[in-house]
Amino acid sequence: MKRVSVVGLGYVGLTFSACLASRGFKVYGVEVDERKRRLIAEGRSPIYEEGLDDLLRKAASAGLLETTSDFQEAIMNSEITFICVGTPQKQDGSVDLSQVESASREVGKALKDKSSYHLIVVRSTVPPGTTEGLVKRLLESGSGKTCGSGFGLCFNPEFLREGKAVEDALNPDRIVIGAMDERSGKTLMDFYRSFYLDELPQTIVTNPVNAELIKYANNAFLAMKISFANMVARLCEKLPGADVNVVMDGIGLDKRIGRSFLRAGLGWGGSCFPKDTRGLISFAERLGVDLKLIKAAVEINEEQVDHAVSIAEKLLNGLKGKVVSVLGLAFKPGTDDVRESRAIKLVERLLEKGAKVKAHDPKAVENARRILGDSVEYARSVEECLRGSDLCILATEWPEYKGLKAETLLELMRNPALLDCRRIYDPKDLQGIKFAAIGLGGSP
Ligand code: UDX
Repeated sequence: MKRVSVVGLGYVGLTFSACLASRGFKVYGVEVDERKRRLIAEGRSPIYEEGLDDLLRKAASAGLLETTSDFQEAIMNSEITFICVGTPQKQDGSVDLSQVESASREVGKALKDKSSYHLIVVRSTVPPGTTEGLVKRLLESGSGKTCGSGFGLCFNPEFLREGKAVEDALNPDRIVIGAMDERSGKTLMDFYRSFYLDELPQTIVTNPVNAELIKYANNAFLAMKISFANMVARLCEKLPGADVNVVMDGIGLDKRIGRSFLRAGLGWGGSCFPKDTRGLISFAERLGVDLKLIKAAVEINEEQVDHAVSIAEKLLNGLKGKVVSVLGLAFKPGTDDVRESRAIKLVERLLEKGAKVKAHDPKAVENARRILGDSVEYARSVEECLRGSDLCILATEWPEYKGLKAETLLELMRNPALLDCRRIYDPKDLQGIKFAAIGLGGSP
């Protein structure tokens, strides 16, 4: 089974397609956006993602990744179709399934003329019950076939981190297969065996509803770990000598807890955690279940930027008229994505308080400008960003910011002060600079 179609060439679909092509699979990528299709066909990535450009270039020159807007062409030329379209958040926090709906409808129609068995795999994050309900119904009505005999259906979540998506796609911790029936599960399992060969990750095969829940519960748990660290950070700040990093190192050594996702800071952003936590809360509410722990995690996350701004206010005795340099605008390092970025929210709050903001980011300025417009000054270098400023706030921990020296701050800033919101600096290296950090005792 070497011929695959992928519907939706966003972060997930595009990375997956490029990885498949890198191992000799022929991929038909269905994408409605013509600009994206053109770029990808030329072997160029419409998004910044480590290693992706290189894979796309190779895929294009080997003729292994074809882009099309025609579902029929993609389905007829492949044996398996992965649906990777977006599931954005609606105003009320619930999940917008319109793209999953139209993709399922189109795939259903295209299946009508197919005589051989075809497997459909939903990779988009969808509320529990969607695959077995909405997707199956639309595929059956569009194709006139019965799920289980005419075609197969699985839900198979992805766990890709932006910035590390290629690495995660090639070496996942595990594969989760939610199969509608035995043949569907076996077909997908065989497909992954042919992709990973003797490096097949641990695999769990279950029904679609469990697999859909695994995806949401997974992200909610990671988000809770981050909010837990941020909650302990607040306590540490009130205790001279306390440091959340040391406390998290200590508890992280307990194998039952683990150290990852316990980095205190400005909180979580991005395209998944905010949407998936709210999506799960709203889904559960409709079933009469109150997800108290996840709600608390969201609340802590919502407060974290205001908390950082209040530390900044105390450091400078008010922000009105002060010049603040913000380092980092992306929601995390290694990406140009600013969706739900805490750094962007931080800038907005600083502006509301009357500060003049200068900002720097190695990759995300273009995307940030779409949200912040000309309300801030975008600096081309860290030095330019710091010149004449009263406070530097480290908002996104890009590696290039780690080497920032006390001498540079002392030389360029009007009143050298630094607020470390991602804990990358050691106060010992910052003699002569007014310093505060999230989760560090003795901060104002
Ligand atoms: C996440 C999941 O990790 C991935 O499995 C899922 O499929 C999509 O969502 P991603 O959003 O790309 O991936 O980024 P991730 O590295 O998980 O970070 C999410 C946010 O949490 C970032 O804003 C990051 O800065 C923040 N974070 C992460 C912390 O504040 N502290 C931590 O310890 C870890």
